[in-house]
Order: sequence, then C-alpha cells, then structure tokens
Amino acid sequence: MAARSPMRPAHWIVLALVLAPAWKVVERLGRSGPKAVSAKSVAEGRILFNHDWTVNDPLTKGDGLGPVFNATSCLACHNQGGAGGGGPVARNVTVYGLSGGSTSKVPPSGVVHQKAIRPEFQETLNLVHSSLPHEPSIPLSVLTDRSRTRSPDVVITQRNTPALFGDGLIDAVADETLLSHQREHSTAARLVGLNGARDSKVRGRIARLADGRIGRFGWKLEFATLNDFVKAACANELGLSNPGRPQAVPLGQLAYKSEGTDLTDEQCVMMTDFIRDLAAPTQVLPSDSKSRSQVEAGHTLFAKIGCADCHSEKLGPIAGIFSDMLLHDMGVELESSTGYYGSIIPQPTVRNDKFAVSEQPTPAEWRTAPLWGVADSAPYLHDGRAASLEDAIVLHGGEASDVAVRFKEMSGPDRDAVIAFLKTLRAPAQTEEPKTLAVR
Ligand code: HEC
Ligand code: HEC
Repeated sequence: MAARSPMRPAHWIVLALVLAPAWKVVERLGRSGPKAVSAKSVAEGRILFNHDWTVNDPLTKGDGLGPVFNATSCLACHNQGGAGGGGPVARNVTVYGLSGGSTSKVPPSGVVHQKAIRPEFQETLNLVHSSLPHEPSIPLSVLTDRSRTRSPDVVITQRNTPALFGDGLIDAVADETLLSHQREHSTAARLVGLNGARDSKVRGRIARLADGRIGRFGWKLEFATLNDFVKAACANELGLSNPGRPQAVPLGQLAYKSEGTDLTDEQCVMMTDFIRDLAAPTQVLPSDSKSRSQVEAGHTLFAKIGCADCHSEKLGPIAGIFSDMLLHDMGVELESSTGYYGSIIPQPTVRNDKFAVSEQPTPAEWRTAPLWGVADSAPYLHDGRAASLEDAIVLHGGEASDVAVRFKEMSGPDRDAVIAFLKTLRAPAQTEEPKTLAVR
C-alpha cells in the first residue's frame, strides 16, 4: 500500500486560499457554542425567534401560522429570564400517547394543539379518544392525580417549556462523551453488586434514535441536534412547515393540505444560530462570606448524597452543566404517556455500543434535567408540577429514590445548604432587548 503523501507547502497555500473567505463570514465566535456562528445569522435568528407569526405571514412562503398552533411566537413560551428562557405551566404543551389497543384514527402519539386559525380546525381531546373531554387540555392538577381512574388506551400528559441557555454547548457534545457517562453508570452499578459498599440504584442510558444517532434534546431525548428540534418546534408549536418537517395538521382534518413551505432551511438555521449563541448559565456566588460558605457546603453535600451521580457537574468539556444527558427511570409517580413531542421514536435498528440497551424511552424515563440556570427556570420537572426546588427533589423516585431519601433525611440546615447552592445556578445575564421586526 502507498504511504500517505505528506502535504507540501504549495498545498498549504492552496488550502489557505480556499479557507480565506470563510474567515470573513465568521464575524465572531459564538459566546457559548464551539460552533462558529455569524453575528448576522444570530441577529436574523433573534428576529425570527421573537416574531409574532400571523396567517399568511410576510416572512413565510406558505400559509404562515397554523392551521393549528400553541402560541404565535417562540418567545411566548421561552421567555423567563429573557428570550430563550423557560416558560410557565400556563404555556405547557399537551401530549398524548395511544396504546396498541386503541382504534383511534389519529397517529399513535403527538401534540394536542391549544389554538387554531379557524374554529373548525380546533383540536379537542375527544378526537384522540372518546373517553376524553371536548376540550383541548385537562388541568395539570387533574392529570397528576393518580387516584383518578382512566382509560388504559390513552395517556395525556403535559410538557413544560425548558430554558435554551447553553443548548449550543449541548449540541456540540461528542457521542463518545455520552457513551462514557453511560459506561460509568454501568461500572458503578456492577460495583454495588460486588462489594455492597454503595446502595446506588442509579443506571442511566443514552437514547439511541432509529437512525442510530444519540438524542440530546427534549425531556425524553428524542432529538439528536438543536437544528432538528428547532425545525420540529416551528412545525409543531407554530404550524410553520419547513424542509425538515411538515406543519401540524388538525387532528379532526388529517387530510388538510396547504400551498408552499413556510420556512426555508436558512431561516431555521438562523433560529438555531440564535439559540447557539445564547450564553450558557453561570454560577453567581453571594458576596458575604457566611452565605458563601453555606453554598460551598451545599455543593459538597449535593455530590456526597449522590445528586451528582446523575446531575454530573461536568459533561466532557462543559463545566457546570449538572447533567449526564442520559435517560433515567424516575419511578411511577413521574410516569407519563409513551407519547412524544412531535414524533415517535421507532424501535431503533442500530446497536453499535455494547453497553447500550437501546429502546424507546419508557413512560418513567427522563433526561437528567441540566441544573444550570435552575434558579431562574421554575416551575420544575417535565410538566412543571413542582413549584419549588424542594418539591422537585422530593418527587424523585425510581433510580433516584435512595438519593431522594438521603435528601429528606438530612438536617434542616443541610437541606437549606443544598437549596442555597442550587439557587446560585442562574440564567445568563441578558444583554439585548428583543428587537422589533424588519419585514423584508
Ligand atoms: C407553546 C409553547 C412553546 C413554543 C411556542 C415554543 N416552544 Fe420550544 N419548547 C416547549 C416545550 C414544552 C418544550 C419541551 C418539549 C419536550 O421536550 O417534550 C420545548 C423545547 C424546546 C427545545 C429543546 C430544548 C432542550 O434543551 O431540550 C428547543 C431547542 C426549542 N423548544 C426551541 C423552540 C423554538 C425555536 C421555538 C419557535 C419556533 C419554540 N421552541 C417554540 C414549548 C414551546
Ligand atoms: C437517578 C438520577 C438522578 C438523581 C440521583 C437525582 N436526579 Fe434530579 N433529576 C433527574 C431527572 C431525570 C430529572 C427530570 C425529571 C422529570 O422531569 O420528570 C431531574 C430533575 C431535577 C430537578 C428539576 C430541574 C428542572 O429543570 O425541572 C432538580 C431541581 C433536581 N433534579 C435536583 C436534584 C437533587 C438536588 C438531587 C439530589 C438530592 C437529584 N436531583 C438527584 C435525575 C436525577
């Protein structure tokens, strides 16, 4: 076999000339994501993210907003602590999942949209299953009341809006980093069996998608890249079709068709670049030494009682994320439908890691919520049922049940210290106000 020929100086010059124009495009590096994004793309993306979409919107090449939608802008939900933040329970998304026994004509899982451009398109839960009310949603307190009996054929749950700060870094996390976290858990689990020193139930696994990629986004890790999620959000939340995704059609009118595609790939990339460019959350330490040492003690306890087994402080090169980005079984209390946001994950066909048990997430499995920015993203958990940090921790079950018990059994001051520590994990300071729109 011929040896690889080394590059000669002439080759370097040619390469430099080819690359030169690219340097001009990249006006500055994204603050948070390692992927370079241009300031122009970020600025345009911000406008699209904040834009209030209308029917036949001038910024689209299709029918614009709808026919069904949950809100008229990304900002309407993602706004706590600035554009890109989390959202309140009032903005929760309603998700359904049908079991194999159902005879309903609608897809086996999806979103029930809260709004429509015309009354005849309005979705209601009874279109999903006849046992359900003629309403687009059920109050969260009713959904989470496990004493109520319900049809075994259908499950309705809600999803709370997460903050997007730092998502550019998550987008860039290498597969190998996620796989190594999974391996760490498997090793720890085996050690428990051998010496009994630890009583950890913590497992955790990657979410292998049907096409073999690893999930990074969504409460159930059903999307591999930020751009995939942005496209799904456009189609699903606002009814804006794009090259990756058809827009949501009314559950009652599945044959609905419209002319044109609303967004271009480029517009979706701009929105993705805007999110990529959002600064990651930071830790803001109190200035007085007494509070500071309480926070430090809380940080130590957080690791000591096992919170950091899942809420890993570092994920590859990302410091201070407090997540392993793996799925964990959180117990029956936190079970949801097998329904997914926007799409189902079919049974995966690729299994190329020996530690992976690559299956569809079970109802009780959730991505370890990254705790960076957690002080500014209430309410908590996948459906926002926990109003406070304490509530969120106490509701941890399944793999986290032993850790949750350790938290509950700590002294009052120790618990306060853990909470004080979590309250230092803040959303990034916002520098730019939402801009008004320039219609092109
Ligand atoms: C009606 C409220 C609502 C609107 C409008 C909305 N989102 Fe979201 N967003 C959510 C919810 C709820 C989730 C969590 C969904 C899940 O994981 O099941 C989410 C999740 C995301 C995520 C994944 C975050 C992560 O870390 O996993 C991204 C990215 C995102 N949204 C971007 C957008 C963009 C871009 C728009 C506008 C095109 C938008 N969203 C509009 C509610 C909303
Ligand atoms: C077995 C893994 C695991 C352990 C151990 C664990 N967590 Fe979690 N944590 C999760 C998962 C998964 C979620 C998301 C659950 C959901 O949304 O229903 C979560 C959610 C949270 C949330 C809510 C975050 C949000 O944005 O909604 C907080 C706060 C939290 N955990 C703190 C803690 C603390 C403090 C400890 C230690 C006492 C701890 N966790 C131990 C896996 C774990």
